[in-house]
Amino acid sequence: MEIILLSFLITNVLALCSFTQHCSQPPYICEAPVALNPHIPPFKENFTAPYACPTFLGQDVCCNDDQNSAMNYKFFLLDETFGHSVGGCDICAANMKYMWCQFTCNPNQAQFVQAGINEFVPNPVDPQQKIWTMLSNFTVTNSLACEIYQSCQKCPYVTQVSAMQSPEGFLQFQGYEGISIGLVWTTFQFSDGPEALDLTFFPCNSNVTSVWGYPIQPCTCNTCLNSCAASYYVSSPTTLEGLDWPVVGIAYLVILGVSMIIFFSKFAWKKHLEKKMRDIQPYVAHDPADSISSLTS
Ligand SMILES: *[C@@H]1O[C@H](CO)[C@@H](O)[C@H](O)[C@H]1NC(C)=O
Ligand SMILES: *[C@@H]1O[C@H](CO)[C@@H](O)[C@H](O)[C@H]1NC(C)=O
Ligand SMILES: *[C@@H]1O[C@H](CO)[C@@H](O)[C@H](O)[C@H]1NC(C)=O
Repeated sequence: MEIILLSFLITNVLALCSFTQHCSQPPYICEAPVALNPHIPPFKENFTAPYACPTFLGQDVCCNDDQNSAMNYKFFLLDETFGHSVGGCDICAANMKYMWCQFTCNPNQAQFVQAGINEFVPNPVDPQQKIWTMLSNFTVTNSLACEIYQSCQKCPYVTQVSAMQSPEGFLQFQGYEGISIGLVWTTFQFSDGPEALDLTFFPCNSNVTSVWGYPIQPCTCNTCLNSCAASYYVSSPTTLEGLDWPVVGIAYLVILGVSMIIFFSKFAWKKHLEKKMRDIQPYVAHDPADSISSLTS
């Protein structure tokens, strides 16, 4: 009896929501999210807009109807930033949606999302402007960070921003961009403890047409490092990045050295021939003439 009660308590302690958000419906002007103190259990909600997170279809979740509508819009922005329409990789965009779905809707939200205070912070897009946001911590495993970064690292937007050149930098940058997009500043915490969210993502070279319920177009070697092992490697300026420069340098020196040797031996051979011709000439040119003239005279 006590064991049943205890396990009932533990499952209920784990399945809790830590924040919520409200928006006007439509035109979807959102207030900053707020922490739920105390935490509340997940709930069933009928969504007016399509499910932004198809993997949670029909489940008790931590996201309300307003948050679902807002996510549909944010996910459109993700596609326009990372997806094929801007020369990126749809699998990366789908993996990002899946991760933000866990942040907003997962019934165990309180386990890995710590919602904090609200305060004014500078807008990343326009630092003069201050935005009323909620501060939050999102605790994820190191393998989650590595996998999502691997699926996104060749997207043009990611390669162009120096802050995004590592798994940690990539996620912190996303959390910071959330200030202007979601009115929440998320700081990622990395841990391999039981509280951390652990997810497995689709590698960007997956041969699929749908990822986490989102339709996708396959990613190519230009947008996905894992696709590049195949022989049909499409060359682009960025392919020079992978070269081993010391090896290239040595190869150039060897080629230069060999051409110099060839050049100088040709030169020396020509000089040698000219000298030989000069040495031979007197006998060839003069001797017969001399002998002829000596004969005729
Ligand atoms: C959702 O819709 C179903 C059927 O339309 C209804 O029975 C239920 O009460 C609704 N739930 C909420 C939370 O509005
Ligand atoms: C986030 O984590 C940091 C470092 O552990 C801590 O100082 C901060 O208070 C946490 N913020 C929230 C909102 O829990
Ligand atoms: C992808 O999968 C389809 C069918 O599932 C198959 O016909 C096709 O050859 C696969 N492509 C590659 C590159 O593996």
